[in-house]
Amino acid sequence: MLNLKGVFAGYGGGDILRGVDLNIEKGSITCVVGPNGAGKSTLLKVVSGLLTPRLGEVTFLGESIAGKSPQSILKGGIVQVMQARSLFPDLTVRENIELGAFLINDQKLVQKRFDEIMDQFPMVKDRLKDKAGSLSGGQQRTVEFARALMLDPALVVLDEPSMGLEPKAAASMYSYVRQMREHGRTVLLVEQNVRAGLGLATHGVVLEAGRVRLTGTGKEILENPQMKVLYLGGSTQQEDA
Ligand SMILES: Nc1ncnc2c1ncn2[C@@H]1O[C@H](COP(=O)(O)OP(=O)(O)O)[C@@H](O)[C@H]1O
Ligand SMILES: [Mg+2]
Repeated sequence: MLNLKGVFAGYGGGDILRGVDLNIEKGSITCVVGPNGAGKSTLLKVVSGLLTPRLGEVTFLGESIAGKSPQSILKGGIVQVMQARSLFPDLTVRENIELGAFLINDQKLVQKRFDEIMDQFPMVKDRLKDKAGSLSGGQQRTVEFARALMLDPALVVLDEPSMGLEPKAAASMYSYVRQMREHGRTVLLVEQNVRAGLGLATHGVVLEAGRVRLTGTGKEILENPQMKVLYLGGSTQQEDA
C-alpha cells in the first residue's frame, strides 16, 4: 500500500533518513521502534508530506507522493496524528472534530461521518460541548483520533500516541487503534513503549540512525535476540509481579 525506496531526508544539516526502504501492507498495523533521534518522526513526516525527501521514492496506492503537498496527501487518504497535543483547547470537542473535515464541502457527508464516529467513540459523544482543553490527556488523544477519522483515511499515521498517557488511557487508546484496523484502515505508528507497540502491531520495523535495521511480524521483532539486548533490558517477558 505504502512503499519507500532509498529515501534520504533531513532538515538541511545533513540526512537524517539515510536510505530507508519500507513496505507497508494494506490492513496492517505497522509499529516503528528505535532509539531517540533515530529518525522515526522524520520518517512519518515524509509519509504525510510535511517533509520532502532529498532522494528516493515514496508511493501510496501505486502513485508517487514524494514532494506532494501535505494537503494533497491528506486528500489522498493519509492522515497523521502528531506527537504533540494538537487540539484547540478553547474550542469545543465538537468544533475540534468538525475541523477534521475542513477539506470536505458536502455537509451531508460531514454529518454522516460525524455520526459514525460518535458511534465509535461514546466518550467523545458525552463531551461534545466541553472545551477540548478541559479533557484529560487520554480523552484529548481520543478526540484527536476522532478528528483524524473525519476524512475517512485509508492510512492513519500516529506518532507516539501513548506518550503522556496513564496505563489505563493507553490501553483504551490501543483498543481504538485495533478498531481502526477492524474498520479496514491501515495504521503506521511509532511507539516508545516497545512491548506494547509491537504487541499491538502485525508488523514491526526497527529504525536506527536513519536506516531500517530489522523488519518482521511484531512478534518476530519482539522475540529477536538483538532486540532483547538493545531495547528490552535483556528480556521480552513481562516481569512477574
Ligand atoms: N525540525 C527539525 N530541524 C532540524 N533537525 C531536526 C528537526 N526535527 C528533528 N531533527 C533532528 O533529526 C533527528 C531525528 O529526529 P526524529 O525524527 O524526531 O527522531 P525520533 O522521532 O526517532 O526520536 C534528531 O537528531 C533531531 O534533532
Ligand atoms: Mg519522535
